[in-house]
Amino acid sequence: MDSVDVHPSALLIGDVVFGGPARVGPFAVIGGETYQVADVPLDTDRSCTRLGAHFSLQAFSYVGGGTVIGAHFRGDAHAYVGTGCTFGEYVVVEYGARVYNRVIIGDGSWIGGFVCNEARIGSRCVIQGSLVHRRTAPHPEPAPIVQDDVLIGANAVVVGGIVIAEGCVVAAGAVIVEDTDPGFMYAGVPARKRGPAHWM
Ligand SMILES: CC(C)(COP(=O)(O)OP(=O)(O)OC[C@H]1O[C@@H](n2cnc3c(N)ncnc32)[C@H](O)[C@@H]1OP(=O)(O)O)[C@@H](O)C(=O)NCCC(=O)NCCS
Repeated sequence: MDSVDVHPSALLIGDVVFGGPARVGPFAVIGGETYQVADVPLDTDRSCTRLGAHFSLQAFSYVGGGTVIGAHFRGDAHAYVGTGCTFGEYVVVEYGARVYNRVIIGDGSWIGGFVCNEARIGSRCVIQGSLVHRRTAPHPEPAPIVQDDVLIGANAVVVGGIVIAEGCVVAAGAVIVEDTDPGFMYAGVPARKRGPAHWM
């Protein structure tokens, strides 16, 4: 990758700035809509979509307007990233994963599941489950916060404005509704603490 290579069928809407070499696959869409949810304003910088060097977005994917992404991003086919998001470097959004609006993600995190509006995810996390609001109304409502080095297992659901502390594992299929203590594994429905986490 040594230039900006945008497939002829891809669509760039509004101001889209590439910080270096990039590849955008067939039927991908970047930019455009910067719709607002509730009363959380987009800051003024967010009129522009900024994509770091070595940005790679595969076919049929979407990155919304005003999103700012660090270097070495990879969005697999059918990945969805909403508007006004802020990602660090080396973030991966896997096939079919959905990250909604104004989500913040640290460096080196991999997203394979569902991330609701305004969720915050630290660095070096793997999110294979869902981060969801506890209720759909009224807005604004707190979203989950996931600290660094956390694994959210496949089909696990993190519900509401809780904090999943650094180094935790939420086991596959768990439903977790309360804050966690750092470095522990939680499993079950509802999830309970099982012991020290070890996955890294
Ligand atoms: C949590 C996990 C990492 C195992 O962690 P671990 O620390 O090795 O835990 P153990 O296997 O020793 O199990 C500890 C206890 O939790 C239970 N447990 C483990 N995973 C569980 C799960 N998903 N749901 C319910 N209980 C679970 C075990 O049965 C055991 O219970 P016990 O003490 O009553 O015997 C693993 O089960 C898991 O869910 N991994 C996520 C997989 C995934 O989503 N991968 C996505 C990337 S492809």
